[in-house]
Amino acid sequence: MPAGRDQAQARLNKLRAEIEHHNYCYYVLDNPEIPDAEFDRLMRELQALEAAHPELVTPDSPTQRVGAAPLKAFAEVAHAVPMLSLNNAFSEEDVIAFDRRAREGLGSEGELEYAVEPKFDGLAITLHYHNGHFIQGATRGDGYTGEDVSANLRTIHAIPLQLDPEQAPPWLEVRGEVLMLKRDFERLNAEARSRGEKEFANPRNAAAGSLRQLDSRVTAKRRLTFFAYGIGRVEGSALPKTHDETMSWLAKLRFPVCPERRTVRGVQGLLHYFAELGAKREQLPYEIDGAVYKLNKLSEQEALGFVARAPRWAIAHKYPAQEELTVVEAIDVQVGRTGALTPVARLKPVFVGGVTVTNATLHNEDEVRRKDIRVGDTVIVRRAGDVIPEVVAILPERRPMRDLVTPLHEPFTMPATCPECGAPVVKLEGEAAARCTNGLACPAQRKQAILHFASRRAMDIEGLGDKLVEQLVDKGLIQTPADLYTLTLEQAAGLERMAEKSASNLITAIEASRHKDLARFIFAMGIRNVGEQTAKDLARHFGQLDALMQADEAALMQVPDVGPVVAESILAFFAEHHNRAVIERLRKAEAWQDGEAQPLAAGHLAGKTFVLTGTLPNLARDEAKARIEAAGGKVAGSVSKKTDYVVAGAEPGSKYTKAQELGVTILDEAQLLELLERGVEA
Ligand code: IVH
Repeated sequence: MPAGRDQAQARLNKLRAEIEHHNYCYYVLDNPEIPDAEFDRLMRELQALEAAHPELVTPDSPTQRVGAAPLKAFAEVAHAVPMLSLNNAFSEEDVIAFDRRAREGLGSEGELEYAVEPKFDGLAITLHYHNGHFIQGATRGDGYTGEDVSANLRTIHAIPLQLDPEQAPPWLEVRGEVLMLKRDFERLNAEARSRGEKEFANPRNAAAGSLRQLDSRVTAKRRLTFFAYGIGRVEGSALPKTHDETMSWLAKLRFPVCPERRTVRGVQGLLHYFAELGAKREQLPYEIDGAVYKLNKLSEQEALGFVARAPRWAIAHKYPAQEELTVVEAIDVQVGRTGALTPVARLKPVFVGGVTVTNATLHNEDEVRRKDIRVGDTVIVRRAGDVIPEVVAILPERRPMRDLVTPLHEPFTMPATCPECGAPVVKLEGEAAARCTNGLACPAQRKQAILHFASRRAMDIEGLGDKLVEQLVDKGLIQTPADLYTLTLEQAAGLERMAEKSASNLITAIEASRHKDLARFIFAMGIRNVGEQTAKDLARHFGQLDALMQADEAALMQVPDVGPVVAESILAFFAEHHNRAVIERLRKAEAWQDGEAQPLAAGHLAGKTFVLTGTLPNLARDEAKARIEAAGGKVAGSVSKKTDYVVAGAEPGSKYTKAQELGVTILDEAQLLELLERGVEA
């Protein structure tokens, strides 16, 4: 080997190790040690060196993560150790039975120890390493033979291409799940939407579609990630004695392992974990569909062995499905508080996400057209957490055909007149929603406005639900929220299905709703584009309703986060004679209490330096950064004595420890939001 080449090889090795290290800090630990610009510099140096010495380029070089020339087809890979599936448990009884079988099988008296972890909703893969180099990776396929997707797997930054040669055994096969994070999925679909392309139904499909690309350059753009959950073949190294230790060993080799994994004892431990993980499920950055329980001791796993294609020593405990199939029986149009017309799918009742769902919002006409949802269609309905059920997509192959028993329905169109009051419907340029033009003269809008006024986060009038408001408006007893405060006990008692006691409860609840703070009252008025947060900001800034009513556009825009659109909505609301009249009556009823004006200076966090670490439950890192900067603060990459605040999420990195050492104030997400909202207390 010529001397120049030797030198180049030495520098290449060093650069590759360094880049892989920073790659690991960034993608696995979510805690970069160097700025992006420095990382790019290292990468450019490596690229230049490889360009000068093409013979030294190896498939496991970090430069190969961008993808390679497209393949014609994937090669087949036989799995030396089969990739089996898991049996499912759908109830506590199933879990109790699983544990009993395990104890009986092992002749064990006491509680067994289990390693527990999420059941990731992605796709299973296996990764082969020889002397620490990633040499091949494959999908599960039928469990015995999969597809060679090595080129695609190389593009996943969370998958190490080179392991520490000191620690890596000669042969190692690591198994785990490839996934797409929820936020990357949302981003991918938003891009597809803006290009008018088809969206993926869920992150799992998006991950599968991305991994099964013949062109790995496409995969490289998709942002997939990976969690290791087991091993296949290992040679030349003693294995740990438990699953838990195996995972720790893999983590030391720098494979990403799930931070939610635990070890627990006995059935109670399993069920407790299931509930705890379920409560966190919506906040996790990736989708899961259950928990996986594995006997922790590998000797016990071996003793129990397999039945058919699944181990006796493990089980997947599933959460109720969040997606189900059902049929659209009708599409109705509902009129909202601001007159927006919303198409709603009436569904054949279906149990999904733990409840029976009969309606799903279709958002707006464009959305119905884009998804081409028609009456009679079989659709995928999704209900995740407390989110309103949605129609994800239709199954075109199940659409009834014209001339057969069920006729094909026409594409949905928005009615030209309001279904509630018959007034013309308009669709304004740049707005997704069509609106009834009748304002509060439309009974549907009036009812919604009153319901909103009474709702828990507004005036909080207990017991005033939709059935009651419906009757009160239809009988002409109330027209506006102000009429609530003149409603008499006799009138209330005269309503259908209204016992004396409930009538008096209603009047008491209305009485008790007076004297609300200004923020709630502003929110309760239901001004378009003024949500709870904006209402708080306005109340804080102006202190008194009269000051807000007199503010012009320039004065309104002094309030943080109030832009021209919000200002315009506020001005339009107070310009309406009818609204001013209602407000005067509410003033007499003492519905609200004015306070003190406490305007926040623009950029109230000016001069403050923040450092972010770990994953925040709701805010993406970019979002947190943008909000801090919008308030005048600065976001730095590392903690020093000059740092004012460290904002720490789940799995914080070394910055957290550093902050503790230096005595820097540590905030969680809620405290950060509070600070953004209220400013720094003097
Ligand atoms: S262990 C022999 N652990 O579930 C057991 N599998 O039905 C091997 N999966 O296709 C699997 N999360 O993709 C295991 N924490 C986890 C998992 C998990 C998801 C998937 C895996 C496999 C299927 C097995």
